Amino acid sequence: MRKNIAAGNWKMNTLPTEGKDLILALNTQEIPDDTTVIIGVPFTHLYLCNDVASHQVNIAAQNCYFEEKGAYTGEISIAMLKDINIQYVIIGHSERREIFGESDELLKSKVTALSQAKMKTIFCCGEPLEVRKAENQNNFVKAQLEASLFHLSAEEIKDVVIAYEPIWAIGTGETASPAQAEDMHAFIRSLLTEKYGDLAQEISILYGGSVKPANAKELFAQPNIDGGLVGGASLKTDSFAEIIKSF
Ligand code: PGA
Repeated sequence: MRKNIAAGNWKMNTLPTEGKDLILALNTQEIPDDTTVIIGVPFTHLYLCNDVASHQVNIAAQNCYFEEKGAYTGEISIAMLKDINIQYVIIGHSERREIFGESDELLKSKVTALSQAKMKTIFCCGEPLEVRKAENQNNFVKAQLEASLFHLSAEEIKDVVIAYEPIWAIGTGETASPAQAEDMHAFIRSLLTEKYGDLAQEISILYGGSVKPANAKELFAQPNIDGGLVGGASLKTDSFAEIIKSF
C-alpha cells in the first residue's frame, strides 16, 4: 500500500525560533498512523526542528548539493544532512529550477547522489502556464522525469516520492481541479508502470499548488493522489493539521 503523505514546504519563511515553535505545535496534533508527515524547513532550522520533532514528524531539507565535499561555497552536502539525522530532501522545486537555474542535468546528479546515500527524495515536477495552455503538460512532465529521475533502478526508485506541482497553481490561490490533478497523476503512474512495472503502485505521488483545508479532501480522494506538498498552508498549524486529517 502507498503511504498517505502530508508534506509541508516552508520555503524561505519563519525564523529558526518560530520554526521550532511551529514544530512543537505540530507535535501536539493528532496524526493518523497511516499518514506520514514531512516538513521541509530552511537549512538554519534543520537541527533545531529535528531536535524537537516527535517521531511522527519528519524534517526535510529543501535542497542539497551532489558533491561529497570541497570548494562549493554556500552549498550543503548530503553527508552534512545525514549527520544531523535528516532523511528527506526536496529536489527540483520549480523555484529552484526557475529562480536559481537548476537544470535537469544538475537534478539528475542530485537524485543519483541522494539515492547512493540512501536518502529519501521528494522529486518535484510540473509545467508552467504556457505549457498547460498549449495542452502540452504531459510531454513536459514526462521529459522532466526522464531527464532526472528515470535513470534510477527499481530498487532505487522505492525511496522516491514524486510531487506534481503545476507552476501556475503555486502560491497563486489557483488550484488544479481534482480532475486535472488526477489526470496528470494517472499519467505519471502509467509512466512509472512502463518503466518499473508493479512497483509503480507503491510510489507515492503528491499534488502541490495552493493545497488548503478547503480543497485537500477532494484532491486526496483521487485514486492516484497520495497526498500533498503544501506551501502557504503549512505555515499555520491549524490549517496544516486539518490537511493532515483530509485523507
Ligand atoms: P503553495 O506552494 O501551497 O503555497 O502553492 C506549494 C509549493 O510550492 O510546494
